[in-house]
Amino acid sequence: ETLTVAVADQVDSTNTQLMARAASGGLHGLVLAAEVQTAGRGRLGRRWSMRPGCGLTFSVLWRFERTMSELSGLSLAVGVALARSLRRAGADVGLKWPNDVLLQDAKMAGILIELSGEANGPASVVIGVGLNLTAPGPVDQPVACLAQVGIRPSRNALLAALLNDLHNVLSEFDGKGFDALREEWLGFFAHLDCPVTLTFSHGEPVNGVARGVAVNGALQVETLRGLETFHAGEVSVRRL
Ligand code: BTN
Repeated sequence: ETLTVAVADQVDSTNTQLMARAASGGLHGLVLAAEVQTAGRGRLGRRWSMRPGCGLTFSVLWRFERTMSELSGLSLAVGVALARSLRRAGADVGLKWPNDVLLQDAKMAGILIELSGEANGPASVVIGVGLNLTAPGPVDQPVACLAQVGIRPSRNALLAALLNDLHNVLSEFDGKGFDALREEWLGFFAHLDCPVTLTFSHGEPVNGVARGVAVNGALQVETLRGLETFHAGEVSVRRL
């Protein structure tokens, strides 16, 4: 079983391109990496922009044997794959729930997962990764890049390492689910036992202490009401 890697100079979005392929018989394991994205997308409808040459932007089309309802924890699993490669490259990265990669408390890489296909059949998924190698230019939040800690890998070598770890982790996830990767995820969790605030698109924020994740990938937060489990929300750390 192999991955097939295509490289484009410029596309709208590698996720958009592979979602179209997902719907039209695109092969399992197809990877599209782009030098430039003109309409890069982030989570929650945000934009993802990166200056040419400053990072890696790629997506992977993966056809699971599992159905969509059996994919809980997938975004955390993808974080494990990235963290494995980046730690091996010497970067002391951490993971934010559900799936940002942090370096020195700022975001260094983001993950966008999109589902394709029938709810009851085997799930097809496009996994997009954007990673900053050098300073990505003006952005609205603090960002990190590998170069800030003196790590300047060859882009091809880093992409190969990331794809290798992604392949291993996705195969493991397909066979055993997030349960098999949960301990490793917790080892990378940047906010374990930290006071956090969870905010939601609707409803009041929740304050508590991050205590871990459940086997379905949900975040466990200890609040005044006890240990509560959250499937959605944005985490920020409360500095006491
Ligand atoms: C996020 O943190 O909000 C997710 C960012 C994901 C960006 C990557 S770059 C490659 C792929 N193509 C896209 O349009 N988005 C993802």
